[in-house]
Amino acid sequence: MAKVRTQFICQNCGTVHARWAGKCDSCGEWNTIVEEDPSGGIGGGPGRQPKNKGRAVALTTLSGDIEDAPRILTGIPELDRVTGGGIVRGSALLVGGDPGIGKSTLLMQAAAALSRNGHKVIYVSGEEAVAQVRLRAQRLGAADTDVMLAAETNVEDILATLALEQRPDLVILDSVQTLWTDAAESAPGTVTQVRAASQSMIRYAKSTGAAVILVGHVTKEGQIAGPRVVEHMVDGVLYFEGEGGHHYRILRTVKNRFGPTDEIGVFEMGSGGLREVSNPSELFLGERNESAPGAAVFAGMEGTRPVLVEIQALVAPSSLGTPRRAVVGWDSARLSMIIAVLEAHCGIRLGQHDVYLNVAGGYRISEPAADIAVAAALVSSLAGLALPSDCVYFGEVSLSGAIRPVAHAAQRLKEAEKLGFKSAVMPKGSQDVPEASKQSSVEIAALPDLVARIAGGTVLTRERDEDDI
Ligand code: TYD
Ligand code: MG
Repeated sequence: MAKVRTQFICQNCGTVHARWAGKCDSCGEWNTIVEEDPSGGIGGGPGRQPKNKGRAVALTTLSGDIEDAPRILTGIPELDRVTGGGIVRGSALLVGGDPGIGKSTLLMQAAAALSRNGHKVIYVSGEEAVAQVRLRAQRLGAADTDVMLAAETNVEDILATLALEQRPDLVILDSVQTLWTDAAESAPGTVTQVRAASQSMIRYAKSTGAAVILVGHVTKEGQIAGPRVVEHMVDGVLYFEGEGGHHYRILRTVKNRFGPTDEIGVFEMGSGGLREVSNPSELFLGERNESAPGAAVFAGMEGTRPVLVEIQALVAPSSLGTPRRAVVGWDSARLSMIIAVLEAHCGIRLGQHDVYLNVAGGYRISEPAADIAVAAALVSSLAGLALPSDCVYFGEVSLSGAIRPVAHAAQRLKEAEKLGFKSAVMPKGSQDVPEASKQSSVEIAALPDLVARIAGGTVLTRERDEDDI
């Protein structure tokens, strides 16, 4: 008799363990290992007898005719931007995000827009009943479209239903955690189930040419629970992010086999659903207090689009032995680096100060070009002097205190000009800067120059005060 084998799989990272343990060695998470039956699905492991001997496939060359990936435009430009110009037919896309962030809302709106453009869309909801989805559709003004709806979680049933219909252009599965297939024994939401169910749906997409969108919830650790293991199988991964207290949401491309991965789409959640924000800078600069010290406007780039955002710093004397460093929206290691460079090369002492850094509106910056905007905000807060309100900052700081040029200087300056900013502080030697912009902007070569421009003697005076104590 064949021995029944079971596996223990970490639900967080997908690592397979030989026996149960309280903690996963691979990702360090506790209580994530679950016993699963490896039969069915993928990853059954070696030692299983292949059912057939295999069929030879024709090998081919790299050169040859290629067709442009046929795309379906959703009619929502922000969504089309992050997918790289529309959803590719026959591809599978994963849309991840925290519960309640607005994934179902976004996809219902996309489904309605596609349907209005004459595409056939099927929306399969595994989380909500038909009545709930209808209610949302009414609220979003999508109830009068031809989007077809089903509330189902079994993959075989979904595939059988799809087989009856004329081939749809897009199938939305909300969410992947609720799907389950007869082929795997484990409970819905486990790694084996999610993998097997996704695999079936991806196979369906490839074989029929219909695009499939899988929705996945993210756990509080920031990873999609279970569906993290789906990321490598799908053609594209989009994350829908947003801060609790803010109304706007950012759709970010994490993986895209058919386009760039550095684009973002910006939306605002309102009573009538998600509204596109085509000029994010206006949103992020919305509530600016121009005379307060410690605020610098950073001219950033998100993919091909310039984004202006305010960086706020608060530097205050600390009552703690080890001063606090708190960062929201930026890399805290990068902040430590800027503080170290300010201390080492500019004579600014922050060892006795708490430093708080916040990127306005809950936006997240990943570019090193924000370095000098951060430095400017820190110095401005320490000196108690407000920065000029019509000036933007961009440039990367190296450990030696030198300021390095960054890409797309011209585009950053153009966006700043468009929004009424009159000057810019940027690295010396920036490329493609138009003559007109050059005259109104200041090019700096090293961080001490920036400090001197902002604070003059003020910071130094403060330092002397401290030394006197
Ligand atoms: P939902 O799309 O259900 O989130 P997800 O599918 O990611 O879990 O969005 C739910 C939230 O969005 C809910 O808190 C209410 C809010 N919302 C609005 O503010 N306006 C709207 O028109 C809709 C439909 C939802
Ligand atoms: Mg939902």
